[in-house]
Amino acid sequence: MKLIKVKDYEELSKQAADYFIKKIQSSPAMIIGLATGSTPEGMYRYLVQDYQENRISFRNITTFNLDEYIGLDGSNENSYRFFMNNHLFDHIDIEKSNVHIPCGTSKDSSAECATYEQLIKAHGGIDLQLLGIGGNGHIGFNEPGSSFQSRTSIVELTDKTRRDNARFFNTFEEVPTEAITMGIATIMESKEIVLLASGEGKREAMRLLLEGRVSEDFPASYLHNHSNVTVIADEAALAGLNYSL
Ligand code: F6R
Repeated sequence: MKLIKVKDYEELSKQAADYFIKKIQSSPAMIIGLATGSTPEGMYRYLVQDYQENRISFRNITTFNLDEYIGLDGSNENSYRFFMNNHLFDHIDIEKSNVHIPCGTSKDSSAECATYEQLIKAHGGIDLQLLGIGGNGHIGFNEPGSSFQSRTSIVELTDKTRRDNARFFNTFEEVPTEAITMGIATIMESKEIVLLASGEGKREAMRLLLEGRVSEDFPASYLHNHSNVTVIADEAALAGLNYSL
């Protein structure tokens, strides 16, 4: 695991965007895994800016998002499809048919999970996967206790995650209780992974990640078993931590 330490959120966003831009320039038809949440918003802003100013093209890029809330359709502004359109896809030249996000309103969510997993396989897997990290160490919506063997599946969200995400909803009760998420095994099959962490709210998660102990209680720790992971974290997320990367 490689660690890139940056000053603050702006620098993290810029570095992460530059990292993806370089990869896209050298492999314009790559398969990218994407995340939602507050952390990648700045990176997406820089990607849009680069598209507008330098014309980096996403035309041949295919994307797979990590997760989606069950019960929210793409027109709901708290759905992850809405988030992605709003922050990235509506502003770049990606073909919408190359965009994949689990459907949260499928009549058969289990079948939706199996189809999603197959679709990733049919594309030859993910070349570069972007991750955020939950305060409790979740990646995607793989909450503590998730199996390291897990594949795309329906998961119940913990109260901690629902409380963390309630900031986007009118009330806590409105936060969905379930989601579809790529599994940990699905994520681990990505050829390369970049994880972003910003702010003091992520410090405890960074402490546990960088301490290096692998445990199902802390899903992100499994990334230590992947051979190509880069963590980009800012000073606030790393303050006071001892680590030896
Ligand atoms: C989002 C996702 C989550 C977030 C995590 C951090 O697609 O999979 O694992 O990356 O909850 O969220 P933020 O960035 O809002 O702190």
